[in-house]
Amino acid sequence: MKKIFFLILCLFISGCQIKQSHYTEKQQEILREEDVLEFAENNCEQVASLQLMLDEEAFQKGYIEDYCRMDLTSSSHVNFLLERGLSDEDVEGYSAIPYFREENLERYLKAEGSYEERVLNVNMNMDLKPFEMISIVNDFSDMTLLVNKFNALPEGYVPDDMVHVKYVCTQGIDYSCTMMDQVVLRQEAEEAFERFVESALEEKGIGIVAIAAYRSYQYQKDLYNYYLPIYGQERTDQFYARPGQSEHNSGLAVDITFDHIRYTDIENHEAYPWILENMHRFGFILRYPEDKQEITRYGYESWHLRYVGAEAAAIMYENNWCLEEYLARK
Ligand code: DAL
Ligand code: ZN
Repeated sequence: MKKIFFLILCLFISGCQIKQSHYTEKQQEILREEDVLEFAENNCEQVASLQLMLDEEAFQKGYIEDYCRMDLTSSSHVNFLLERGLSDEDVEGYSAIPYFREENLERYLKAEGSYEERVLNVNMNMDLKPFEMISIVNDFSDMTLLVNKFNALPEGYVPDDMVHVKYVCTQGIDYSCTMMDQVVLRQEAEEAFERFVESALEEKGIGIVAIAAYRSYQYQKDLYNYYLPIYGQERTDQFYARPGQSEHNSGLAVDITFDHIRYTDIENHEAYPWILENMHRFGFILRYPEDKQEITRYGYESWHLRYVGAEAAAIMYENNWCLEEYLARK
């Protein structure tokens, strides 16, 4: 009220000048406390940037001149980027990318393309050769956990929530049906697989079965070592994961076939597009699509499904993202 009265009064008094603050009471309070209110009022070119830093509690007095010079769209990582002495353009560019990861900065700086391209490519390890850097997975509760040539499961890892798969192949009838006694998946994946199989039968009239599901570390090791002298290193790595780096070790992957077709031939069946269009409803993705080989670093596998949960699967389906592309944006 006092302010309004003063304003009206001023309209009648010539020469009276009221300077409205650029900042809210709360913002002014912080600036006053830090003894930089006067600078902020009179010398700040990019008021919106400073306001953003103040509102998101990222304001640091020592960087006030930098905030006031730059055109910031997000306060994320701004101080981190300034600490590293990056140019205004880089600070503006990187802080605007929501999936910027501080630990990857050195690699972003060496990469090429727009800020977004650099961040995404590095987040997907596109700047590295397979196996160049391997992280060990430690959050097994996340159904989107990443197992690939850069992310391995711990050697002794055995999921503790596995159950028998209801719909499995028939030995002697289905090609490559070898693991009859131990076709298991993590419970959430198995339940989703059951719903998927039952819907496929109901909606499309096909009988989907698992020909492979969970594999132990040792099994994967034997499998890899079996093919190594036959195919050589490069081709073996293209189609077989090294032990600990196979999604089959996670209990979240299942290789499928249907109606007793050889599993490598299912892609030619008229029902296959239904699988591609519908499996996301049950939380599955085709893990190694033909058009994503450069990213997944594996050859195309029309039969290898991965359970990630329905929400994530829907996002990947809608955007045509593989798992790496989805996770790079997190
Ligand atoms: N064939 C896939 C890549 C695996 O071995 O897990
Ligand atoms: Zn597989």
